[in-house]
Amino acid sequence: MIYFDNAATTIHKPEGVKKAVYDSLDTMGNPSRGAHEPSLRASRLVYDTREKLAALLGINDPSRIAFTLNATDALNIAVNFVVSSTDSIITTECEHNSVLRPLYKSGAELTVIRADKLGSIDHDIEIKNNTRAVFINHASNVTGNITDLKKISDLAHRNNALLVVDAAQTAGVIDIKAEETGIDILCFTGHKSLMGPQGTGGIYVRKDIDIKPFRVGGSGIHSFDREQPPHMPDVLEAGTLNCHGIAGLNAALDFIAETGTENIFAREKALADRFISGIRDIKGIRLYGDINAEKRAPIVTLNIDGISSDVLCDRLWTDYGICTRAGAHCAPLMHRALGTDKTGAVRFSFSYFNTEEEIDKGINALRELSEQ
Ligand code: ALA
Repeated sequence: MIYFDNAATTIHKPEGVKKAVYDSLDTMGNPSRGAHEPSLRASRLVYDTREKLAALLGINDPSRIAFTLNATDALNIAVNFVVSSTDSIITTECEHNSVLRPLYKSGAELTVIRADKLGSIDHDIEIKNNTRAVFINHASNVTGNITDLKKISDLAHRNNALLVVDAAQTAGVIDIKAEETGIDILCFTGHKSLMGPQGTGGIYVRKDIDIKPFRVGGSGIHSFDREQPPHMPDVLEAGTLNCHGIAGLNAALDFIAETGTENIFAREKALADRFISGIRDIKGIRLYGDINAEKRAPIVTLNIDGISSDVLCDRLWTDYGICTRAGAHCAPLMHRALGTDKTGAVRFSFSYFNTEEEIDKGINALRELSEQ
């Protein structure tokens, strides 16, 4: 099997991840719920993982990060807190349904910035005085195009709007300096480029933002209070955390720190570039996104004229054992902008653990299928 569906989830995890999850199963108690060793061990693990995430994401105070189930969960928390039905919100056609659906549900007035044929947005966004927030991704899950977050942050803050970022496709592979960039709320998942287990993710909330709870329940502290403890991270962490998943994420973060985000990015970019050069001249190939950009997430989305995207994706799997993702990738507006809303497209997304040999097999498979 060749796995090129890393934008959906990575399945080749660093060596230590599996063992960390396995070992945690019979060693981790419930964090912040006791003073016996298993509970303390879990509390230390959770704190240590927060520290590693803070170091990776350019955040000074680790307690400003709360664990969530995934990026969608974090984005729901963010929308629920930031947006009310009378607000005016800016977002873009590049967004995933994890941003769009919570925003639609909020009933707020939405201004959706159009994307061009390459799936890029004009960063000179007009932000009005009554705009409450800008919701934008760091990289599109369809094109891999990157947003210049500093530019959007400066624009948003000049107009007293908040910047909420969906970093589902970039945390771990593209450098994020949350504080330096001026991100107000950052939502990320643990199971993609952070290389941890599914069911892990997080939300960073800038220090002066007094976020309110999304869920309430047990916190392990202040049990006689009728309200959730108001401070981060407890305010967003009602109920038992996924310590087994967090143990795996912790090991993945060690690997990322040892390897270096820049080296991970360089390798993934080299794989994506090799793939693009190998398929560029295939008859009937259509590539989407700004594939010539120097910095982009390691995603290559394409179609071949005459083959529907679902058939191409199925043939890649059944004839070649290659895993890709077809369809709309939960990003309907992006596909509309690219002109692929009727056809869908096939997405190849690479990870640090893919090899040049696998890339060449992918190129060869596409060439053979196009010839057929
Ligand atoms: N959001 C994930 C993807 O793009 C699942 O495939």
